[in-house]
Amino acid sequence: MGFRLFPEQASTLAPQVDHLLFFLLAAAAFFTVAIFGAIFYFAIRYRRRSDRELPKAIHGSVPLEILWSVIPFGLTMVMFTWGASVYFTGRSAPADAIQIDVVAKQWMWKLQHMEGPREINELHIPLGRPIKLTMTSEDVIHSFFVPAFRTKQDVVPGSYSTTWFQPTKTGKYHLFCAEYCGDRHSGMTGWIYVMQPEDYAAWLSGETPGATLAENGRKLFQDLACANCHKPDGSGRCPALAGLFGSTVSLADGTAVTADEAYIRESILRPAAKVVAGYQPLMPTFQGQVTEEGVLQLVEYIKSLSPEPKAPSQSRDRQGAVRNP
Ligand code: CUA
Repeated sequence: MGFRLFPEQASTLAPQVDHLLFFLLAAAAFFTVAIFGAIFYFAIRYRRRSDRELPKAIHGSVPLEILWSVIPFGLTMVMFTWGASVYFTGRSAPADAIQIDVVAKQWMWKLQHMEGPREINELHIPLGRPIKLTMTSEDVIHSFFVPAFRTKQDVVPGSYSTTWFQPTKTGKYHLFCAEYCGDRHSGMTGWIYVMQPEDYAAWLSGETPGATLAENGRKLFQDLACANCHKPDGSGRCPALAGLFGSTVSLADGTAVTADEAYIRESILRPAAKVVAGYQPLMPTFQGQVTEEGVLQLVEYIKSLSPEPKAPSQSRDRQGAVRNP
């Protein structure tokens, strides 16, 4: 071990972030040395040598003005485009990413795999696959920080934030909370275990074979009697939900919205916020009746009702179950 200035690089993003940082450091160091060097050089070279000495008046130089405006402008544009490109790489998860749901609370991380296993302060993931996190908080703002992945994303109560990373090395990496969240903030840590794909598969199958997230969501959907109104054939008082996820929904106020995770969450907790065109605002709020984990399960269930599901083998029975609730 010993002292290390930088955390290990263990994700595809890590070298990109580091290269940008080194460029910024090098640019800052170069100009710091150049400016201080010039200050000292000129202070000595042009110091006043006698009381009668009068300096020569200077009337400026247009080429010089242009030069020292254009060079910094070019340099900041390089920083801007480079930084923006790294930022967007870190923002947009690949479509084939493995989905993990994260609920933060004082003072722990609760992580749910789509296949069902749930973990606390530990996350097991396979090597070489992109991992996308959908995160929310039960109480205050937390921040999901894995230095080795150069990943840091605030986790905010009342909304979903997302981030993604692709690990490049197996091993055990520290997870921190990077937003002060109360007196045990410093203890809100965990470990990310990056495993060989076959070890990960073994780990997954070794976990208690509970229901998948979507199946738990379906159960919750039944327990809350959602299907009384959201009839699968569309004959109910509320819209049918199959194929909803990812579609464009026309609202009663004439606007339209894309049905993403945040929209579904809001519709469960604040149904009156966005009423679908042609429907009455009849739905009661489920705020306080469903936990954040439950809401995520419902979201996964509704996602699984898409006409083009990601995992056809699993979603067939899920959809079948919806047709006969
Ligand atoms: Cu959670 Cu700091």
